Formats: sequence, structure tokens, C-alpha cells
Amino acid sequence: SAAQSFYDEIGGRPAFHTLVARFYDGVRADPVLRDLYPEEDLGPAEVRLRMFLEQYWGGPRTYSEQRGHPRLRMRHAPFRIGLAERDAWLKAMADAMDSITLSPEQRATLWQYFVMAADSMVNSLHDV
Ligand code: HEM
Repeated sequence: SAAQSFYDEIGGRPAFHTLVARFYDGVRADPVLRDLYPEEDLGPAEVRLRMFLEQYWGGPRTYSEQRGHPRLRMRHAPFRIGLAERDAWLKAMADAMDSITLSPEQRATLWQYFVMAADSMVNSLHDV
């Protein structure tokens, strides 16, 4: 059969749904992160991150249908993201990853991606 996408391999929509829902529980619980999000309702932001990650890993392309080209670094420009914010984001994602079933290889693949992506979103080093 054709190579399975990583999206399918780790459990498809339910896995991404759980991952991103737990991630936003972490955002809600962490003032460093929560204060960065402009909207009171984190529901729409949760949907955007879920759609993006599903698309990135080979699932449905709903993100680009609704949002266009990701241009993530540009979309993060309005938010002051320093090392503390990056670390808080990665901590919330590490906790979220513990809520889904991943092989050690899958965990490493996902984590390497998140570290690379979070590093690339840092746009403010005034706190160094
Ligand atoms: C949007 C913070 C890293 C993917 C946002 C928003 C904030 C934010 C405040 C606006 C919420 C909204 O959608 O309304 C941060 C912080 C990061 C970080 C503090 C720390 C480094 C990342 C990473 C990814 C990501 C690593 C992807 C792997 C997204 C996506 C959106 C978004 C897809 C929605 C973009 C759109 O379509 O408008 N982020 N983010 N973010 N973030 Fe991040």
C-alpha cells in the first residue's frame, strides 16, 4: 500500500484533536502563554493550530483552504516571543504529547519538529 502519512500513523484526527486540546489546556494554565493570546475564547486558535498540524503531517488540507499559505513566522510577528515564551510553548506541547500514544520514534520525530518550529518563531531576544 502507499506509504502512510505520519498523520495516519499516529492516529489521524482523534490524535491531533487530543494533542491540540491538551496543548490549549496548558496555554490556559500558564500566564506567560495565556497573556499572549489576544482573544478571550481560545477555541478558534485551537482549531487553527489543529488544522495546521494536520496539514503539515499529511492530513486534510483544510488549513490552507481556510487560511491560505501558513507564513507562520509572519503571523507570529504581532506577538512578542522570546526564549521564555518559546520554552513555555514547548513545555505545554511536551505535556500534550504525553496525552497521546506515540512510539519512541514518532515522539522523537514530532518533538524535533516542534523544537525547530518554536525556535524559528522567536522574534524578540530583549530578555537575553
Ligand atoms: C497562532 C503564540 C509557536 C502555530 C498563534 C497565536 C499566538 C501564538 C499568540 C495567535 C492565536 C490565534 O491563532 O488567534 C505562539 C508562541 C509560540 C508559538 C508564544 C512559541 C514559540 C508556534 C509553533 C507553531 C505555531 C511552533 C507550529 C508548529 C500557530 C498557528 C497559528 C498560531 C498555525 C494560527 C495562524 C493563523 O492561521 O492565523 N501562536 N506560537 N505556533 N500559531 Fe503559534
